[in-house]
Amino acid sequence: MKRTCRGRGRIRAGLLVCAAVALQLFAGAAAKADDGYRLWLRYDPLPANVVKGYRARVSSIVVQGESPTLDAVRTELVEGCAGLLGSSVPLAEKVERDGALVVGTPQSSPLINGLKLERELTALGPEGFRIRSVKLGGRSATVIASRGETGALYGAFHFLRLMQTEQPVGNLDVSQRPRLRLRVLDHWDNLDGTVERGYAGRSLWDWDALPGRVDPRLRDYARADASVGINGSVLNNVNADAKSLSAEYLRKTKAVADALRPYGVRVYLSARFSAPMELDGLKTADPLDPEVAGWWKRKADEIYKLIPDFGGFLVKANSEGQPGPRTYGRDHVDGANMLAAGLAPHGGVVIWRAFVYDAKPGYDRAAAAYEQLQPFDGRFAPNVLLQVKNGAIDFQPREPFHPLFGAMPKTQMMLEAQITQEYLGHSNHLVFLAPAWREVLDSDTRAEGPGSTVARVLDGSLFGQRLTGMAGVANTGSDRNWTGHHFGQANWYAFGRLAWNPDTPPRQIADEWIKMTFTHDPKAVAAVTRIMLESHEAVVDYMTPLGLHHIMWGGHHYGPAPWENKFERADWNPVYYHKADAAGLGFDRTATGSNAVAQYSPAVRAVFGDPNAVPEKYLLWFHHVPWDRRMRSGRTLWDELALDYQRGVDWVRAARKSWDALSGVIDAERHAAVAKKLEIQERDAVAWRDACLLYFQTFSKRRLPAGVERPQKTLAEYMAESILDEDSRQ
Ligand code: GCU
Repeated sequence: MKRTCRGRGRIRAGLLVCAAVALQLFAGAAAKADDGYRLWLRYDPLPANVVKGYRARVSSIVVQGESPTLDAVRTELVEGCAGLLGSSVPLAEKVERDGALVVGTPQSSPLINGLKLERELTALGPEGFRIRSVKLGGRSATVIASRGETGALYGAFHFLRLMQTEQPVGNLDVSQRPRLRLRVLDHWDNLDGTVERGYAGRSLWDWDALPGRVDPRLRDYARADASVGINGSVLNNVNADAKSLSAEYLRKTKAVADALRPYGVRVYLSARFSAPMELDGLKTADPLDPEVAGWWKRKADEIYKLIPDFGGFLVKANSEGQPGPRTYGRDHVDGANMLAAGLAPHGGVVIWRAFVYDAKPGYDRAAAAYEQLQPFDGRFAPNVLLQVKNGAIDFQPREPFHPLFGAMPKTQMMLEAQITQEYLGHSNHLVFLAPAWREVLDSDTRAEGPGSTVARVLDGSLFGQRLTGMAGVANTGSDRNWTGHHFGQANWYAFGRLAWNPDTPPRQIADEWIKMTFTHDPKAVAAVTRIMLESHEAVVDYMTPLGLHHIMWGGHHYGPAPWENKFERADWNPVYYHKADAAGLGFDRTATGSNAVAQYSPAVRAVFGDPNAVPEKYLLWFHHVPWDRRMRSGRTLWDELALDYQRGVDWVRAARKSWDALSGVIDAERHAAVAKKLEIQERDAVAWRDACLLYFQTFSKRRLPAGVERPQKTLAEYMAESILDEDSRQ
């Protein structure tokens, strides 16, 4: 990615010089092998015939007005257009020729003000935008307008994306607004620079150097976010250090906020519930204690003095050892609403996490969040959102949708997805997550009859919630390519696109991303699209087919360990989740078992609770079934399981071949890096298949069916090795 041109003033020769400099930087970058730093904002020259068509439409850039965000618009368009079209496009103050690109808001731009778009723009909101091909003073122009400057920036990125993906820009009439209000990345970054569940190097925030030195890379981070409409970043780990809220660290956070603000990205912080005790020696953090409430109110005032657009607090309370209101005999509502009261005067929100479960012997962890939170429906303050993971356990390769979706009609709820691949092969495996997230978004909760999808719970159209949102646990880090695996970038991209519009098809997302990131070659695009769209199903096949879950090594969660039973807490052990025995396999969550299925609405419960009706991809999630159970294919459960594992391995081998065939189409550096990762992925897939089948075979006592390869090692070897931990990262 390029360096910024931070020129001020009107239409400055400076920016043009900057554009020229940028072009040179670009040229250098294109000639070299590509290290992936530029993400999907590469702006390499388009083919000559395509450029010819665009040139007439993009002959000058007119961004009237002055502000950091308008500067960002100018810089992005100047650099983007120059890169894509292969020569610079001048900035102008007015429309002097055909082909002007006019960008801004009615407030900033007299030209846009003259178009009388107020009504439409008001309907689209400050982040929505309108792009239209119009005539201005007899000249053809493209107008990118919004009520807010961030909307204008999003429109500029949209326009650039049209060109990057070689779509027509001649006769545009586009209106977009984000369907969700909060589109937030949750960074699980620690103050010491490590990242919990991070597989792409160290934290992007250099806390030691801040606030004195702000890494210029933060601008490129913000650009990438804005290009897909991400408008918030929680900077620190949900397992929060109280120090993040100290005066010293707030000054550091302010410096980050200042760097991200021009791109419409607001900062949030994870708040440790016991911070008043740790930072200021209060005797308690009881949310009903007036001193405690006063402390949080003053803390909020202090933060907003420094960061007037601070987003709010994300809170992991009473979960996995974190303190929370229950520590003091209070409940979730007491805790969330007390924090919310401090933030409300400033417009901040509390994002209260629903990832809560106790260490109770004999209970089903999948039922815990609903048990603890559903009774509080309707009691949270208006500036509180409940952040619910996609499924009830923990970002497994596949989970049925969380039963809280649809079950709290009077509570503002946002989805928490995990972009970082904690349970999905870290940054070693190629897994495109848009299809997995689509599966959740499209799940029908049946809360208000058919069509009550999770997407409609989230966007407010089902229950009318005012605050809406989606969060993704970030996969970014200090690695040169940001995400460790080049294809990890696609998940960052996909998260933003889905948070903007939860109905976006994964195929479209993949197609856009590939064209922007790798190649326009139609055969290559088709091949890579196929790999991406199939990848999630394949990973489920070789890790946790048919509804299996949480059978990876404890701690690092990387390779297979279905035998593991060493943790003191039963629900941290794989054996707790698969319940393999001589009779069969799977967790009985029906009335004969934990009855967690009763948390779903009656129509859903009827399907999930019936082993003959449940989609087989969730069979072992809800049912303990015999090894000889007949599956819909006519095969026994055992045979089907074994063949699913094999299919996963076969897929990785086929994907490697397809990828190898693209050498020469994809630049050598990234091609080789991905090939290397795919090699690891094949090794891991084989180990998953072998280890799981050998282990389950000790219960099933059945032979592997025809078509399944003989294991490469013995079960004892797999159990002894833990070969697949993070050390295998290369
Ligand atoms: C998972 C993950 C933890 C994380 C937790 C959470 O359990 O392994 O590292 O802290 O989720 O979401 O809070």
